[in-house]
Amino acid sequence: MNIEVKTICCIGAGYVGGPTMAVIADKCKHLKVIVVDLNKEKIDSWNDRDLTKLPVYEPGLKDLIQRCRSKNLFFKTDIKKAIAESDMIFISVNTPTKKSGLGAGEASDLKFIESSARSIAKFAIGDTIVVEKSTIPVKTAEVIKTILVSSQNEFKNKSKKSFTVLSSPEFLAEGTAINDLLNPSRVLIGGDDDDAINSLVDIYKNWVKEEKILKTNIWSSELSKLTANAFLAQRVSSINSISALCEKTGADISEVAKAVGMDYRIGNNFLKPGPGFGGSCFKKDILNLVYICKFYGLNDVAGYWNQVLKINQWQQSRLTNIIVTKLFGTITNKKIGILGFAFKANTNDTRESPAINISSELIIEGAELTILDPKVEEVSILKDLKEFIINKDPSIKVENQVEITSSYEQIATDADAIIILTDWDDFKKIEWQNLSRLMRKPSWVFDCRNTINLNNFKESDLNIWKLGFGSNINNLK
Ligand code: NAD
Ligand code: UDX
Repeated sequence: MNIEVKTICCIGAGYVGGPTMAVIADKCKHLKVIVVDLNKEKIDSWNDRDLTKLPVYEPGLKDLIQRCRSKNLFFKTDIKKAIAESDMIFISVNTPTKKSGLGAGEASDLKFIESSARSIAKFAIGDTIVVEKSTIPVKTAEVIKTILVSSQNEFKNKSKKSFTVLSSPEFLAEGTAINDLLNPSRVLIGGDDDDAINSLVDIYKNWVKEEKILKTNIWSSELSKLTANAFLAQRVSSINSISALCEKTGADISEVAKAVGMDYRIGNNFLKPGPGFGGSCFKKDILNLVYICKFYGLNDVAGYWNQVLKINQWQQSRLTNIIVTKLFGTITNKKIGILGFAFKANTNDTRESPAINISSELIIEGAELTILDPKVEEVSILKDLKEFIINKDPSIKVENQVEITSSYEQIATDADAIIILTDWDDFKKIEWQNLSRLMRKPSWVFDCRNTINLNNFKESDLNIWKLGFGSNINNLK
Protein backbone atom coordinates (compact mmCIF):
# COMPACT_ATOMS: atom_id res chain seq x y z
CA MET A 1 0.00 0.00 0.00
CA ASN A 2 1.76 3.11 -1.21
CA ILE A 3 0.21 6.18 0.39
CA GLU A 4 1.40 9.55 1.52
CA VAL A 5 0.80 9.77 5.25
CA LYS A 6 -0.37 13.23 6.30
CA THR A 7 -2.70 12.53 9.20
CA ILE A 8 -2.33 9.86 11.83
CA CYS A 9 -4.71 8.84 14.56
CA CYS A 10 -4.13 6.86 17.73
CA ILE A 11 -6.99 4.97 19.36
CA GLY A 12 -6.33 4.96 23.13
CA ALA A 13 -5.06 8.02 25.04
CA GLY A 14 -3.38 6.10 27.86
CA TYR A 15 0.18 5.62 29.10
CA VAL A 16 1.30 4.49 25.63
CA GLY A 17 -0.97 6.45 23.27
CA GLY A 18 -0.48 9.87 24.88
CA PRO A 19 3.34 9.96 25.25
CA THR A 20 4.00 8.10 21.96
CA MET A 21 1.87 10.47 19.92
CA ALA A 22 3.31 13.51 21.71
CA VAL A 23 6.81 12.44 20.62
CA ILE A 24 5.69 11.72 17.04
CA ALA A 25 3.96 15.12 16.84
CA ASP A 26 7.05 16.86 18.20
CA LYS A 27 9.41 15.12 15.79
CA CYS A 28 7.13 15.21 12.74
CA LYS A 29 5.78 18.73 12.48
CA HIS A 30 4.51 17.92 8.95
CA LEU A 31 2.02 15.38 10.37
CA LYS A 32 -1.32 16.03 12.00
CA VAL A 33 -1.66 13.69 14.99
CA ILE A 34 -5.04 12.99 16.60
CA VAL A 35 -5.35 10.93 19.78
CA VAL A 36 -8.84 9.62 20.52
CA ASP A 37 -10.41 7.85 23.47
CA LEU A 38 -13.86 6.72 24.57
CA ASN A 39 -13.12 8.17 28.00
CA LYS A 40 -14.18 11.84 27.83
CA GLU A 41 -12.74 12.67 31.24
CA LYS A 42 -9.32 11.47 30.12
CA ILE A 43 -9.46 13.49 26.91
CA ASP A 44 -10.52 16.56 28.93
CA SER A 45 -7.49 16.06 31.18
CA TRP A 46 -5.18 15.82 28.18
CA ASN A 47 -6.68 19.13 27.03
CA ASP A 48 -6.52 20.79 30.46
CA ARG A 49 -4.72 24.14 30.44
CA ASP A 50 -3.23 23.20 33.79
CA LEU A 51 -0.49 20.79 32.70
CA THR A 52 -0.25 19.26 36.17
CA LYS A 53 -3.64 17.70 35.45
CA LEU A 54 -2.48 15.53 32.52
CA PRO A 55 -3.72 11.98 33.10
CA VAL A 56 -0.21 10.56 32.79
CA TYR A 57 2.81 11.74 34.78
CA GLU A 58 6.08 11.26 32.89
CA PRO A 59 9.22 13.38 33.15
CA GLY A 60 9.40 15.57 30.02
CA LEU A 61 5.81 15.00 28.92
CA LYS A 62 4.45 18.39 30.00
CA ASP A 63 6.93 20.25 27.78
CA LEU A 64 6.03 18.16 24.74
CA ILE A 65 2.32 18.72 25.26
CA GLN A 66 2.87 22.43 25.70
CA ARG A 67 4.85 22.60 22.45
CA CYS A 68 2.53 20.53 20.24
CA ARG A 69 -1.01 20.59 21.63
CA SER A 70 -3.50 22.36 19.35
CA LYS A 71 -0.72 22.86 16.78
CA ASN A 72 -0.28 19.42 15.24
CA LEU A 73 -1.37 17.30 18.22
CA PHE A 74 -5.04 16.99 19.15
CA PHE A 75 -6.90 15.03 21.82
CA LYS A 76 -10.50 14.24 20.80
CA THR A 77 -13.49 12.06 21.54
CA ASP A 78 -14.87 12.13 17.99
CA ILE A 79 -13.47 8.75 16.96
CA LYS A 80 -15.46 8.57 13.73
CA LYS A 81 -14.10 11.84 12.35
CA ALA A 82 -10.51 11.11 13.41
CA ILE A 83 -10.54 7.68 11.76
CA ALA A 84 -12.11 9.03 8.57
CA GLU A 85 -9.46 11.69 8.10
CA SER A 86 -6.43 9.49 8.93
CA ASP A 87 -4.05 7.64 6.60
CA MET A 88 -2.42 5.65 9.40
CA ILE A 89 -4.15 4.49 12.58
CA PHE A 90 -2.35 3.21 15.67
CA ILE A 91 -4.23 0.95 18.07
CA SER A 92 -2.97 1.63 21.63
CA VAL A 93 -5.88 0.37 23.68
CA ASN A 94 -5.60 -1.69 26.84
CA THR A 95 -5.34 -5.49 26.60
CA PRO A 96 -5.97 -6.68 30.17
CA THR A 97 -6.14 -10.27 31.34
CA LYS A 98 -9.58 -11.83 30.77
CA LYS A 99 -11.66 -11.92 33.94
CA SER A 100 -14.23 -14.47 32.82
CA GLY A 101 -15.00 -16.97 30.07
CA LEU A 102 -12.55 -18.99 27.99
CA GLY A 103 -8.96 -18.44 29.19
CA ALA A 104 -10.08 -16.37 32.21
CA GLY A 105 -7.14 -15.38 34.42
CA GLU A 106 -4.56 -15.95 31.68
CA ALA A 107 -5.58 -14.99 28.15
CA SER A 108 -5.62 -11.36 27.02
CA ASP A 109 -9.01 -9.76 26.70
CA LEU A 110 -9.13 -8.52 23.13
CA LYS A 111 -12.51 -6.78 23.35
CA PHE A 112 -10.96 -3.29 23.10
CA ILE A 113 -8.81 -4.37 20.14
CA GLU A 114 -11.86 -5.83 18.45
CA SER A 115 -14.00 -2.73 19.04
CA SER A 116 -11.17 -0.53 17.71
CA ALA A 117 -10.91 -2.70 14.60
CA ARG A 118 -14.67 -2.49 14.09
CA SER A 119 -14.59 1.31 14.39
CA ILE A 120 -11.77 1.47 11.85
CA ALA A 121 -13.64 -0.90 9.54
CA LYS A 122 -16.72 1.28 9.72
CA PHE A 123 -15.34 4.79 9.54
CA ALA A 124 -12.11 4.58 7.52
CA ILE A 125 -12.14 6.03 4.02
CA GLY A 126 -9.80 5.00 1.19
CA ASP A 127 -6.47 3.28 1.91
CA THR A 128 -5.50 2.98 5.56
CA ILE A 129 -2.48 1.52 7.34
CA VAL A 130 -3.42 0.03 10.72
CA VAL A 131 -0.59 -0.33 13.27
CA GLU A 132 -0.90 -2.55 16.35
CA LYS A 133 0.88 -0.72 19.21
CA SER A 134 -0.91 -2.56 22.00
CA THR A 135 0.75 -5.70 23.34
CA ILE A 136 -1.27 -8.62 22.03
CA PRO A 137 -1.13 -12.38 21.66
CA VAL A 138 0.74 -13.65 18.63
CA LYS A 139 -1.70 -14.03 15.68
CA THR A 140 -3.92 -11.10 16.72
CA ALA A 141 -3.21 -9.31 13.44
CA GLU A 142 -5.22 -12.11 11.84
CA VAL A 143 -8.28 -11.13 13.91
CA ILE A 144 -7.88 -7.48 12.98
CA LYS A 145 -7.41 -8.34 9.30
CA THR A 146 -10.51 -10.54 9.30
CA ILE A 147 -12.65 -7.74 10.75
CA LEU A 148 -11.23 -5.19 8.32
CA VAL A 149 -11.57 -7.43 5.28
CA SER A 150 -15.18 -8.30 6.06
CA SER A 151 -15.92 -4.58 6.24
CA GLN A 152 -14.40 -4.07 2.81
CA ASN A 153 -17.16 -6.35 1.51
CA GLU A 154 -19.91 -4.98 3.76
CA PHE A 155 -19.26 -1.33 2.92
CA LYS A 156 -17.98 -1.72 -0.63
CA ASN A 157 -21.01 -0.09 -2.22
CA LYS A 158 -20.85 2.93 0.09
CA SER A 159 -17.17 3.87 -0.06
CA LYS A 160 -14.02 2.25 -1.36
CA LYS A 161 -11.64 1.19 1.40
CA SER A 162 -8.58 -1.01 1.82
CA PHE A 163 -6.34 -1.84 4.76
CA THR A 164 -2.85 -3.06 5.59
CA VAL A 165 -2.06 -4.24 9.11
CA LEU A 166 1.39 -3.81 10.69
CA SER A 167 2.65 -4.78 14.12
CA SER A 168 4.86 -2.26 15.90
CA PRO A 169 4.84 -3.05 19.62
CA GLU A 170 5.89 -0.34 22.03
CA PHE A 171 8.84 -0.97 24.35
CA LEU A 172 8.70 2.19 26.47
CA ALA A 173 8.89 1.80 30.22
CA GLU A 174 6.91 4.07 32.49
CA GLY A 175 8.87 6.73 34.32
CA THR A 176 11.32 6.92 31.40
CA ALA A 177 8.75 6.89 28.60
CA ILE A 178 9.80 10.08 26.84
CA ASN A 179 13.48 9.20 26.91
CA ASP A 180 12.70 5.65 25.75
CA LEU A 181 10.60 7.01 22.87
CA LEU A 182 13.27 9.54 21.87
CA ASN A 183 16.14 7.04 22.15
CA PRO A 184 14.64 3.59 21.60
CA SER A 185 16.95 0.57 21.75
CA ARG A 186 15.05 -0.56 18.64
CA VAL A 187 11.82 0.10 16.78
CA LEU A 188 10.22 -3.12 15.67
CA ILE A 189 7.96 -3.25 12.61
CA GLY A 190 6.35 -6.48 11.49
CA GLY A 191 4.37 -6.92 8.32
CA ASP A 192 4.40 -8.16 4.76
CA ASP A 193 3.63 -4.98 2.82
CA ASP A 194 6.93 -3.23 2.08
CA ASP A 195 5.33 0.08 1.10
CA ALA A 196 3.27 0.26 4.28
CA ILE A 197 6.33 -0.70 6.36
CA ASN A 198 8.32 2.06 4.68
CA SER A 199 5.59 4.60 5.46
CA LEU A 200 6.01 3.81 9.16
CA VAL A 201 9.83 3.75 8.84
CA ASP A 202 9.61 7.23 7.28
CA ILE A 203 7.92 8.52 10.43
CA TYR A 204 10.48 7.03 12.82
CA LYS A 205 13.38 8.08 10.57
CA ASN A 206 12.71 11.66 11.63
CA TRP A 207 14.59 10.93 14.87
CA VAL A 208 15.62 7.24 15.01
CA LYS A 209 18.67 5.93 13.12
CA GLU A 210 17.62 3.51 10.40
CA GLU A 211 19.87 0.72 11.72
CA LYS A 212 17.75 0.70 14.89
CA ILE A 213 14.58 0.03 12.92
CA LEU A 214 14.08 -3.71 12.75
CA LYS A 215 11.75 -5.21 10.14
CA THR A 216 10.39 -8.70 10.77
CA ASN A 217 7.46 -10.86 9.82
CA ILE A 218 4.29 -9.93 11.67
CA TRP A 219 4.21 -12.96 13.99
CA SER A 220 7.84 -12.48 15.07
CA SER A 221 7.03 -8.89 15.91
CA GLU A 222 4.00 -9.79 18.02
CA LEU A 223 5.85 -12.60 19.83
CA SER A 224 9.02 -10.55 20.39
CA LYS A 225 7.12 -8.11 22.59
CA LEU A 226 5.76 -10.83 24.89
CA THR A 227 9.17 -12.49 24.98
CA ALA A 228 11.04 -9.26 25.82
CA ASN A 229 8.73 -8.57 28.76
CA ALA A 230 8.98 -12.17 29.96
CA PHE A 231 12.82 -12.02 29.88
CA LEU A 232 12.87 -8.73 31.81
CA ALA A 233 10.45 -10.01 34.44
CA GLN A 234 12.45 -13.22 34.71
CA ARG A 235 15.55 -11.24 35.68
CA VAL A 236 13.62 -9.47 38.45
CA SER A 237 12.31 -12.77 39.81
CA SER A 238 15.79 -14.30 39.55
CA ILE A 239 17.45 -11.56 41.61
CA ASN A 240 14.55 -11.51 44.09
CA SER A 241 14.86 -15.25 44.63
CA ILE A 242 18.58 -14.79 45.37
CA SER A 243 17.81 -11.89 47.75
CA ALA A 244 16.14 -14.40 50.07
CA LEU A 245 19.17 -16.68 49.91
CA CYS A 246 21.44 -13.73 50.76
CA GLU A 247 19.42 -13.04 53.89
CA LYS A 248 19.92 -16.65 55.01
CA THR A 249 23.62 -16.90 54.21
CA GLY A 250 25.16 -13.56 55.15
CA ALA A 251 25.75 -12.49 51.54
CA ASP A 252 24.82 -8.99 50.39
CA ILE A 253 22.52 -8.88 47.33
CA SER A 254 23.97 -5.64 46.01
CA GLU A 255 27.46 -7.18 46.00
CA VAL A 256 26.17 -10.38 44.38
CA ALA A 257 24.21 -8.43 41.74
CA LYS A 258 27.27 -6.34 40.94
CA ALA A 259 29.55 -9.36 40.63
CA VAL A 260 27.07 -11.22 38.45
CA GLY A 261 26.19 -8.20 36.30
CA MET A 262 29.83 -7.38 35.49
CA ASP A 263 29.87 -10.46 33.27
CA TYR A 264 29.25 -8.83 29.88
CA ARG A 265 27.16 -11.84 28.86
CA ILE A 266 24.75 -11.15 31.71
CA GLY A 267 24.89 -7.35 31.95
CA ASN A 268 24.00 -5.21 34.94
CA ASN A 269 20.50 -3.97 34.06
CA PHE A 270 17.36 -5.27 35.70
CA LEU A 271 19.21 -6.81 38.62
CA LYS A 272 17.76 -4.61 41.37
CA PRO A 273 15.99 -6.60 44.06
CA GLY A 274 12.69 -5.23 45.28
CA PRO A 275 9.21 -6.08 46.52
CA GLY A 276 8.43 -7.75 43.19
CA PHE A 277 7.66 -6.35 39.77
CA GLY A 278 4.46 -4.42 39.21
CA GLY A 279 3.09 -2.42 36.33
CA SER A 280 0.38 -3.12 33.85
CA CYS A 281 2.54 -5.25 31.56
CA PHE A 282 4.73 -7.96 33.07
CA LYS A 283 2.10 -10.05 34.83
CA LYS A 284 -0.51 -9.84 32.10
CA ASP A 285 2.00 -10.50 29.32
CA ILE A 286 3.50 -13.53 31.05
CA LEU A 287 0.02 -14.89 31.80
CA ASN A 288 -0.72 -14.45 28.15
CA LEU A 289 2.49 -16.24 27.15
CA VAL A 290 1.60 -19.07 29.51
CA TYR A 291 -1.86 -19.30 27.93
CA ILE A 292 -0.49 -19.38 24.39
CA CYS A 293 2.06 -22.07 25.33
CA LYS A 294 -0.72 -24.22 26.83
CA PHE A 295 -2.89 -23.61 23.76
CA TYR A 296 -0.13 -25.08 21.60
CA GLY A 297 0.39 -27.97 24.03
CA LEU A 298 3.72 -26.68 25.36
CA ASN A 299 2.87 -27.32 29.00
CA ASP A 300 6.45 -27.49 30.29
CA VAL A 301 7.23 -24.15 28.66
CA ALA A 302 4.08 -22.71 30.23
CA GLY A 303 5.17 -24.02 33.65
CA TYR A 304 8.63 -22.49 33.24
CA TRP A 305 7.27 -18.98 32.67
CA ASN A 306 4.55 -19.35 35.29
CA GLN A 307 7.28 -19.81 37.89
CA VAL A 308 8.45 -16.22 37.22
CA LEU A 309 5.03 -15.05 38.39
CA LYS A 310 5.00 -17.40 41.38
CA ILE A 311 8.32 -16.03 42.65
CA ASN A 312 6.98 -12.51 42.24
CA GLN A 313 3.98 -13.29 44.39
CA TRP A 314 6.12 -15.17 46.88
CA GLN A 315 8.46 -12.20 47.30
CA GLN A 316 5.54 -9.96 48.30
CA SER A 317 4.18 -12.47 50.85
CA ARG A 318 7.68 -13.06 52.18
CA LEU A 319 8.18 -9.35 52.86
CA THR A 320 4.83 -9.05 54.62
CA ASN A 321 5.74 -12.01 56.84
CA ILE A 322 9.15 -10.53 57.71
CA ILE A 323 7.56 -7.20 58.70
CA VAL A 324 4.95 -8.82 60.93
CA THR A 325 7.53 -11.14 62.52
CA LYS A 326 9.97 -8.31 63.31
CA LEU A 327 7.12 -6.37 64.96
CA PHE A 328 6.72 -9.19 67.53
CA GLY A 329 4.28 -11.20 65.39
CA THR A 330 1.38 -8.80 65.78
CA ILE A 331 0.59 -5.49 64.14
CA THR A 332 -2.99 -5.00 65.33
CA ASN A 333 -3.52 -1.27 65.97
CA LYS A 334 0.14 -0.56 65.29
CA LYS A 335 0.88 2.47 63.16
CA ILE A 336 2.96 1.78 60.05
CA GLY A 337 4.15 4.35 57.51
CA ILE A 338 4.30 3.34 53.84
CA LEU A 339 6.65 5.28 51.57
CA GLY A 340 5.72 4.85 47.91
CA PHE A 341 2.64 3.41 46.30
CA ALA A 342 3.45 3.64 42.56
CA PHE A 343 4.82 0.43 41.05
CA LYS A 344 8.11 2.21 40.34
CA ALA A 345 9.54 5.72 40.63
CA ASN A 346 8.62 8.60 38.33
CA THR A 347 5.13 7.43 37.47
CA ASN A 348 1.68 7.95 38.96
CA ASP A 349 0.68 4.45 37.82
CA THR A 350 -0.24 1.91 40.50
CA ARG A 351 -1.39 -0.96 38.32
CA GLU A 352 -0.18 -4.26 39.87
CA SER A 353 1.97 -2.28 42.30
CA PRO A 354 3.44 -4.54 45.03
CA ALA A 355 2.38 -1.77 47.44
CA ILE A 356 -1.26 -2.77 46.92
CA ASN A 357 -0.70 -6.35 47.98
CA ILE A 358 1.68 -5.61 50.85
CA SER A 359 -0.36 -2.69 52.28
CA SER A 360 -3.60 -4.65 52.02
CA GLU A 361 -2.13 -7.65 53.87
CA LEU A 362 -0.94 -5.32 56.66
CA ILE A 363 -4.41 -3.75 56.88
CA ILE A 364 -5.98 -7.20 57.07
CA GLU A 365 -3.54 -7.99 59.93
CA GLY A 366 -4.98 -4.96 61.76
CA ALA A 367 -2.35 -2.26 61.15
CA GLU A 368 -3.14 1.44 60.76
CA LEU A 369 -1.33 2.75 57.70
CA THR A 370 -0.18 6.23 56.76
CA ILE A 371 0.77 6.31 53.09
CA LEU A 372 2.86 8.85 51.17
CA ASP A 373 3.55 8.86 47.45
CA PRO A 374 4.87 11.93 45.62
CA LYS A 375 2.65 11.45 42.55
CA VAL A 376 -0.17 9.00 43.22
CA GLU A 377 -3.48 10.60 44.12
CA GLU A 378 -5.39 9.70 47.28
CA VAL A 379 -8.41 8.40 45.32
CA SER A 380 -6.24 5.94 43.40
CA ILE A 381 -4.64 4.57 46.57
CA LEU A 382 -7.96 4.09 48.34
CA LYS A 383 -9.58 2.55 45.25
CA ASP A 384 -6.73 0.04 44.82
CA LEU A 385 -6.81 -0.98 48.47
CA LYS A 386 -10.59 -1.34 48.55
CA GLU A 387 -10.62 -3.46 45.40
CA PHE A 388 -8.01 -5.81 46.85
CA ILE A 389 -9.46 -6.05 50.34
CA ILE A 390 -13.12 -6.50 49.40
CA ASN A 391 -12.29 -9.97 48.03
CA LYS A 392 -10.39 -10.96 51.16
CA ASP A 393 -12.43 -9.46 53.99
CA PRO A 394 -15.47 -7.35 53.02
CA SER A 395 -16.02 -6.35 56.67
CA ILE A 396 -12.91 -4.12 56.67
CA LYS A 397 -13.50 -0.36 56.17
CA VAL A 398 -10.32 0.78 54.48
CA GLU A 399 -10.82 4.48 55.40
CA ASN A 400 -10.79 3.55 59.10
CA GLN A 401 -7.29 2.11 58.83
CA VAL A 402 -5.63 4.28 56.18
CA GLU A 403 -4.54 7.89 56.02
CA ILE A 404 -2.90 9.46 52.98
CA THR A 405 -0.40 12.22 53.63
CA SER A 406 2.30 14.33 52.05
CA SER A 407 4.06 14.91 55.39
CA TYR A 408 7.04 12.79 56.43
CA GLU A 409 6.43 13.88 60.03
CA GLN A 410 2.95 12.40 59.89
CA ILE A 411 4.38 9.17 58.46
CA ALA A 412 6.74 8.89 61.42
CA THR A 413 4.65 10.16 64.33
CA ASP A 414 3.97 7.27 66.73
CA ALA A 415 4.83 4.75 64.01
CA ASP A 416 6.35 1.39 64.91
CA ALA A 417 7.70 0.98 61.41
CA ILE A 418 8.23 2.70 58.07
CA ILE A 419 8.34 0.60 54.93
CA ILE A 420 9.90 1.80 51.67
CA LEU A 421 8.10 0.23 48.71
CA THR A 422 8.90 2.53 45.77
CA ASP A 423 12.33 3.76 44.71
CA TRP A 424 11.48 7.50 44.58
CA ASP A 425 14.58 9.74 44.76
CA ASP A 426 12.83 11.87 47.42
CA PHE A 427 13.18 9.00 49.89
CA LYS A 428 16.96 9.04 49.58
CA LYS A 429 17.03 12.52 51.10
CA ILE A 430 15.12 11.67 54.28
CA GLU A 431 16.77 12.78 57.52
CA TRP A 432 16.16 9.57 59.45
CA GLN A 433 17.49 10.94 62.68
CA ASN A 434 14.69 13.54 62.73
CA LEU A 435 11.99 11.02 61.92
CA SER A 436 13.34 8.55 64.44
CA ARG A 437 12.54 10.97 67.29
CA LEU A 438 8.87 10.91 66.34
CA MET A 439 8.52 7.13 66.20
CA ARG A 440 7.48 4.69 68.93
CA LYS A 441 10.37 2.56 70.22
CA PRO A 442 11.62 0.07 69.27
CA SER A 443 11.11 1.35 65.75
CA TRP A 444 11.93 -0.25 62.44
CA VAL A 445 12.62 0.83 58.88
CA PHE A 446 12.11 -1.84 56.23
CA ASP A 447 13.99 -0.81 53.10
CA CYS A 448 12.45 -3.04 50.43
CA ARG A 449 14.15 -1.12 47.58
CA ASN A 450 17.64 -0.73 49.06
CA THR A 451 17.48 3.02 48.64
CA ILE A 452 18.82 4.02 52.04
CA ASN A 453 22.39 5.06 52.54
CA LEU A 454 23.47 3.51 55.85
CA ASN A 455 25.52 6.62 56.71
CA ASN A 456 22.24 8.50 57.14
CA PHE A 457 21.35 6.04 59.86
CA LYS A 458 24.49 6.26 61.91
CA GLU A 459 23.16 8.65 64.54
CA SER A 460 19.64 7.27 64.73
CA ASP A 461 18.38 4.60 67.08
CA LEU A 462 16.26 2.97 64.40
CA ASN A 463 16.44 -0.72 63.58
CA ILE A 464 16.88 -1.23 59.88
CA TRP A 465 16.08 -4.20 57.70
CA LYS A 466 17.41 -4.13 54.13
CA LEU A 467 16.25 -6.51 51.44
CA GLY A 468 18.80 -9.18 50.59
CA PHE A 469 21.24 -8.09 53.26
CA GLY A 470 22.40 -11.11 55.20
CA SER A 471 24.71 -9.59 57.83
CA ASN A 472 23.33 -8.08 61.01
CA ILE A 473 23.02 -4.64 59.56
CA ASN A 474 22.22 -2.98 62.88
CA ASN A 475 25.72 -3.82 64.10
CA LEU A 476 27.17 -2.12 61.03
CA LYS A 477 25.42 1.22 61.44
P1 NAD B 1 -4.25 2.51 29.25
O1 NAD B 1 -5.29 1.77 29.97
O2 NAD B 1 -3.44 3.55 29.96
O3 NAD B 1 -4.91 3.23 27.98
C1 NAD B 1 -5.74 2.58 27.06
C2 NAD B 1 -6.84 3.54 26.63
O4 NAD B 1 -7.60 2.95 25.55
C3 NAD B 1 -7.87 3.84 27.73
O5 NAD B 1 -7.88 5.23 28.00
C4 NAD B 1 -9.22 3.36 27.15
O6 NAD B 1 -10.29 4.21 27.49
C5 NAD B 1 -8.94 3.42 25.66
N1 NAD B 1 -9.82 2.59 24.84
C6 NAD B 1 -10.13 1.28 25.00
N2 NAD B 1 -10.93 0.87 24.01
C7 NAD B 1 -11.13 1.92 23.19
C8 NAD B 1 -11.86 2.10 21.98
N3 NAD B 1 -12.51 1.10 21.40
N4 NAD B 1 -11.86 3.34 21.41
C9 NAD B 1 -11.19 4.36 21.98
N5 NAD B 1 -10.46 4.24 23.11
C10 NAD B 1 -10.43 3.03 23.71
O7 NAD B 1 -3.28 1.43 28.61
P2 NAD B 1 -1.72 1.59 28.28
O8 NAD B 1 -0.91 1.41 29.50
O9 NAD B 1 -1.53 2.80 27.44
O10 NAD B 1 -1.46 0.29 27.39
C11 NAD B 1 -1.98 0.17 26.09
C12 NAD B 1 -1.37 -1.04 25.43
O11 NAD B 1 0.05 -0.86 25.29
C13 NAD B 1 -1.54 -2.34 26.20
O12 NAD B 1 -1.69 -3.39 25.28
C14 NAD B 1 -0.22 -2.49 26.94
O13 NAD B 1 0.09 -3.83 27.21
C15 NAD B 1 0.76 -1.92 25.94
N6 NAD B 1 1.97 -1.35 26.54
C16 NAD B 1 1.90 -0.64 27.70
C17 NAD B 1 3.05 -0.06 28.23
C18 NAD B 1 3.03 0.71 29.51
O14 NAD B 1 4.10 1.00 30.03
N7 NAD B 1 1.88 1.08 30.04
C19 NAD B 1 4.27 -0.19 27.54
C20 NAD B 1 4.28 -0.90 26.35
C21 NAD B 1 3.13 -1.47 25.86
C1 UDX C 1 7.92 -2.78 31.19
C2 UDX C 1 9.04 -2.99 30.16
O1 UDX C 1 10.30 -2.62 30.75
C3 UDX C 1 8.78 -2.14 28.93
O2 UDX C 1 9.78 -2.40 27.94
C4 UDX C 1 7.42 -2.51 28.39
O3 UDX C 1 7.16 -1.75 27.23
C5 UDX C 1 6.34 -2.31 29.44
O4 UDX C 1 6.66 -3.08 30.61
P1 UDX C 1 7.33 -0.91 32.97
O5 UDX C 1 6.45 -1.95 33.54
O6 UDX C 1 6.77 0.42 32.68
O7 UDX C 1 7.96 -1.42 31.61
O8 UDX C 1 8.59 -0.67 33.95
P2 UDX C 1 9.94 -1.50 34.23
O9 UDX C 1 11.05 -0.55 34.35
O10 UDX C 1 10.13 -2.62 33.31
O11 UDX C 1 9.66 -2.08 35.70
C6 UDX C 1 8.70 -3.09 35.92
C7 UDX C 1 8.73 -3.50 37.37
O12 UDX C 1 9.93 -4.22 37.68
C8 UDX C 1 8.68 -2.33 38.35
O13 UDX C 1 7.83 -2.66 39.42
C9 UDX C 1 10.10 -2.18 38.81
O14 UDX C 1 10.22 -1.60 40.09
C10 UDX C 1 10.54 -3.64 38.81
N1 UDX C 1 12.01 -3.78 38.67
C11 UDX C 1 12.62 -3.41 37.51
C12 UDX C 1 12.74 -4.32 39.72
O15 UDX C 1 12.19 -4.66 40.77
N2 UDX C 1 14.09 -4.47 39.55
C13 UDX C 1 14.75 -4.11 38.42
O16 UDX C 1 15.97 -4.26 38.36
C14 UDX C 1 13.99 -3.55 37.36
